[in-house]
Amino acid sequence: MALLDDLLQKRVFPVELERYCTYAMEQAGLPRDAAAVSARVLTTADRWGIHTQGARQIRQLMKNIRDGRIDATARAGVTAAGPAIAILDGNRAMPLVTACTAMESAIRKAGEAGIAYVGVKRSSHIGAAGYYATMALPHDMIGIAMTNTDPWMTVPGGKGPIMGTNPIAYAIPAGSERPVFLDIATSSVAVTKILAAKAPGKRLPEKWLVDDAGRPTDDPANYPAQGALLPMAGHKGYGLAVLVETLTAMIPGAAFLSGVKCWAFDIPDKTNQGHAFLAINVGAMTPLVEFKARMDAMIREIKAAPKAGDGRIYLPGEMEWERQERARRDGIALPVYVLVNLIRLAEDTGTPESLAAIFH
Ligand SMILES: NC(=O)c1ccc[n+]([C@@H]2O[C@H](COP(=O)([O-])OP(=O)(O)OC[C@H]3O[C@@H](n4cnc5c(N)ncnc54)[C@H](O)[C@@H]3O)[C@@H](O)[C@H]2O)c1
Repeated sequence: MALLDDLLQKRVFPVELERYCTYAMEQAGLPRDAAAVSARVLTTADRWGIHTQGARQIRQLMKNIRDGRIDATARAGVTAAGPAIAILDGNRAMPLVTACTAMESAIRKAGEAGIAYVGVKRSSHIGAAGYYATMALPHDMIGIAMTNTDPWMTVPGGKGPIMGTNPIAYAIPAGSERPVFLDIATSSVAVTKILAAKAPGKRLPEKWLVDDAGRPTDDPANYPAQGALLPMAGHKGYGLAVLVETLTAMIPGAAFLSGVKCWAFDIPDKTNQGHAFLAINVGAMTPLVEFKARMDAMIREIKAAPKAGDGRIYLPGEMEWERQERARRDGIALPVYVLVNLIRLAEDTGTPESLAAIFH
């Protein structure tokens, strides 16, 4: 592919990538406001270096629209509400937009109530859970976001896929230090990272999988046809995944475990994923200035701790903030699997010239 060879030599600035993604999604039939929100969520993952959850997902999301699994013009609706809670019916609307709406609602309610929970049912794939957690930061709140997924992960004592990879993310404001931000699957890693790492004869860095007999392995050759992901840290990741399943599916009434259908497979079934968003209004509980000073002190004490050899101590989120700064300054060299997906999206939407024009 001549275009791929060309783009592999070049870089793209995040604002231009975001603009192109908005345009391509509009060409694919998404209303402009929904396209803009979705492009912001996905390209933020690329800014953070989480390319598996970034712009590469647009093509499959647009296919979900063509297949009737996502309704481009639908909007989420409220089915239950109180001063500190809401449940939204995602109505199969663009899931990234639904998730932003739900987190905005949690932030608004926490402004009054101090803490708020918003659950969502009948939704689909929301990309990097961390995006929604960071929405709380400009409001000086702690944000927490999570989603269930279709089953990819085994559990201790089991074999084969039983639970979703159920990511959980938090973002905590600090004072003069950068916010603390964790965004992780409760499986050993996200599925997309295994698929992106698969190459003939290539082993994974660690035993992230079990084979079809339930034995831990670092060989991804037969995955995902056989085997499953291991939970993060054994029973601990499994236990957290059960909490995520409860908050995202059992409360809102979304599908759970084997009832969740994969958004990335070419199947007609509606996905019916569930999500949960929480906002904690720190200033309602303790003076904000004192909280931020304590956060700064905690961050500095961790960073000043004795190092192992030449190692560096990172706070959760520090890697993402550094990558974001580099992306803004130098642009991003997108990995080949992202470029392949963007080129196919451009072919689907008749926008190859617009895509080529954003690379320098
Ligand atoms: N929507 C879905 O269906 C779905 C499912 C699973 C995962 N995901 C997403 O996939 C992404 C990747 O998940 P993952 O589990 O592979 O993440 P990961 O294992 O790469 O962990 C990333 C997190 O760990 C922190 N971190 C990494 N190294 C660190 C260090 N040395 N010290 C301190 N902190 C460190 C990072 O700052 C970041 O917050 C996330 O954005 C997640 O939300 C989405």
